[in-house]
This record gives sequence, structure tokens and C-alpha cells, in this order.
Amino acid sequence: MSENSRSSIHGQWSSRWVFVLAATGSAVGLGNIWKFPYIVGENGGGAFVLVYLLCIAAIGLPVMIAEVMLGRRGRQSPINTMKVLSKEEGRSPLWQLLGWSGVVAGFLILSYYSVIAGWAINYVLEMASGSFSGTSAGQVKTVFDDLLADPLKLTLWHTLFIIATMVVVARGVRGGLEKAVMLLMPALFVLLIILLIYAMNSGAFMQGLAFLFTPDFSALTGKGVLIAMGHAFFTLSLGMGAIMVYGSYMRSEDSIARTSIMIVIADTVVALIAGMAIFPIVFANGLEPGAGPGLVFQTLPLAFGQMTGGLFFGTLFFILLLFAAWSSSISLIEPAVTWLVENRNMTRRMASIVCGIATWVLGMGTVLSFNLWAEVKLFDMTFFELLDFLTANIMLPLGGLFIALFVGWAMSRESKLHEMGTKHLLAFNGWNFLLKYVAPLAVLVVFLQSIGLLEKLIEKLS
Ligand code: TRP
Repeated sequence: MSENSRSSIHGQWSSRWVFVLAATGSAVGLGNIWKFPYIVGENGGGAFVLVYLLCIAAIGLPVMIAEVMLGRRGRQSPINTMKVLSKEEGRSPLWQLLGWSGVVAGFLILSYYSVIAGWAINYVLEMASGSFSGTSAGQVKTVFDDLLADPLKLTLWHTLFIIATMVVVARGVRGGLEKAVMLLMPALFVLLIILLIYAMNSGAFMQGLAFLFTPDFSALTGKGVLIAMGHAFFTLSLGMGAIMVYGSYMRSEDSIARTSIMIVIADTVVALIAGMAIFPIVFANGLEPGAGPGLVFQTLPLAFGQMTGGLFFGTLFFILLLFAAWSSSISLIEPAVTWLVENRNMTRRMASIVCGIATWVLGMGTVLSFNLWAEVKLFDMTFFELLDFLTANIMLPLGGLFIALFVGWAMSRESKLHEMGTKHLLAFNGWNFLLKYVAPLAVLVVFLQSIGLLEKLIEKLS
């Protein structure tokens, strides 16, 4: 079967822009605004940011192009796409495992993503009720600590968010959210700019910028490098089939490379602006950059509490953050849902319910890891920390590695050229080189050095 006769049973985006919006909606989320600032803070700032940016450019962008391309060529759930394409290229059916590991990673990530999105729901209400008007850093921290100590509240918000996600997924990605994203993403961007302007006048703007952009390599650990690389995958939604499944709804005539570049730029800009808005507030108030997952929830309310119109802007900000999380969460479960529809003959609705219940149950582990199970640790990590580490720092980079290997080595040049178009041969060759050599080696090197093996190897050789 030639790729042109293949079409997705799940539908197609109505235009090129809808794909860009949906994929940007998937990429821009809690990863940019919640996670990026706190891992930068925990890993010492500038050097971490530099490694992250390098990973985005040298690994993230080429892998994104590859993942979109696989999806569009296969036009099915990631599992079946890998099945069809490996057969077409005369390769081992084991490549399907890539799809399976993606489905598992999607479940694991969504289970905790939903709990954090639940924090944002709570903050919409706290903001709107004026809890933060003119508060001190201490009071803001108390609100956060009280939330984490309350399993019932966390469960309620987690439940609501899972339901909201599944309602959209059940209707199909195109019905509804496609339109919401078009309005809400630009609005989120405007609000970030307002925060940035506030940060510029906070008195510690330069200190914030210096922290973000002056690399101090002594502050960076081997594990920090792994976290930076893992986050490059996480923030771009790569390595688990989310972008692949979105690519499967893409029209054949649109340029994969150009759209991917736009998505990567948008995602990176949002993360950097969030960082530039948050760190000045951290320093102006004498807060701890390494405060951990509570960082945004302990800094931004403080800023909104002091700002004129802060009640309004603050409420709006957390609403928009919630929508950003929503347009990301649906992509985490879409690969599993499409597979159930294709292979288990379920309706979309039934598949969404099944997936929703499974993720909800797993998410309860994360809810409890902040309170009742706070002391239950494996490898010195709580349930939440373990899930986050396993998915973002192991499963996604491995998924990305195998995507790069499949497209770089297992797929014929003809197939790739056919899907990508032959107009810009130089760019094509550059991309192919990155996928064949640079991305796989970089992932391997980062894995090895993070467990300390690289240093030992170098010692042995010299
Ligand atoms: N990229 C999203 C964020 O930054 C999260 C996300 C959505 C994701 N889909 C994904 C992460 C798929 C990994 C894989 O918030």
C-alpha cells in the first residue's frame, strides 16, 4: 500500500494551522510553566538552561520531525503505525514495542500530570477568592503546604481534571478543543508578557536573568544533564507517540519540517519567558530557587497579590494554565485510545472511559505521595518523583532514541524523501545526519554519564 492511499480512520486536521495549534497545545503545558522553572532552580540555573537548549536543537527538533513523519506515513495509532512501517521497510516487528512503551509512558505521565493540573484548579479558586491579596511569602507557602496535606481536595481536583480530559478525548481531538486552543494559547502568552513586565520592575530582574543565562558549570551535576535532556523530550511531547498520533491526522501536502520548527520555537519561547518572569520574583522576595515542584505556586501568587488588578490577572493566569495543561493531557492518552478503537473494536467513548479510570487509579498514588505516603520511598524517591523520573528521564529519551534509530537507520532513504519532499536536499541530509548519529549518541552519552560510567570509561582509555 502506498502512503498516499492510506488515511486515518480517526479523521484529519482541517488545515495546516490546526495541526500547528494542536501540536503546540500538546507541547506547551505544565512542562513549560510549572516544571521548567523548578528544575532550572534545582539544578543551578544557566548551565542547565544551556544544556536544555542544546538538547532541544540537536535532539528535540530532529526527533520531532521524525515522529511527525512516522505518524503521517503510518496514519494509525503509534502501535499499528510502527507495525505497518516496520513491515513496509522489511524490518523486525519488534519495532512495535516502541508504540507499546509509548502507551505505557502516556498513562504514567497523565496520572501525575492530572494531579498537578489539579493544583492549578485549586489556585484558580484561591486566586478568585482573594486569598493572596497583599500576602507575604510565608502565607503563600502555607496555602501550598495545606493543599498538599489534603488528600481529599487533591483527589477531587484530580478527578475533575481526568474527567475533563476524557470528555475531550471521547469527542475526538477535533471537536471542541481545537477551537478553544486557538483563543486560549495566545491569551496565555499575553498574560506571561504581563508577568514579565511585572518582573522587570520587581527590582531583581537582572539577578533573575543572570541566574537563567550565566552558565556556571560547577552547579551542574551528571544527573542534572540527564534531567535537562529528559525535559527536552517532555516539553516537546516527544518519545511516546503523542506527536506521532497528531502527525497521523496531518494532511499529506503540508511541510513537516516547517511546522515542527514553529512548534519547537513556540514551546521554547514560552518556557524561557516563564523563567524570566518567575526568577526575578524569587530573588526579589528572598525565596529559594530550589524550592521544588511548588515553585510557581509559591512565587506567582505573591506577584499577583502585589499587582494592581492582580485578582483578575491571577485568576485568569491559572485558568489559562489549566487550559494549557488540558490541551497537553489529551495528547498523552490519545495513542492508547486510538489503539483500543483500532484493535479492540471499542467506540471512542468506551475507550476513553477505560483509559480514564485506569489513569485515575494510578494518579491516586501521586495524590498520596504528597501526604500519607510522603515517607514511602523507593531509590530515595516518592511515588510521584519515581514516576516523573522513570518517564521523563528514562522512557521518553529511550523512545526518542528508538525513533531516531528507526528513521535514521531502518527506513529507506526513498521512503523518507517521499514523505519529506525533495525540495531542500541539504536540509534533508542535515536532518538525516542528526538522526543517524548525533541524537542516538547524545542520548547514550547522557545516559552513561548520568550513572557515572562515562567518567570511568574515559579514565580507562586515558
Ligand atoms: N509537553 C507537555 C508539557 O510540557 C506535556 C505532554 C503532553 C507530554 N504530551 C506529552 C510529555 C507526551 C511527554 C509526552 O506540559
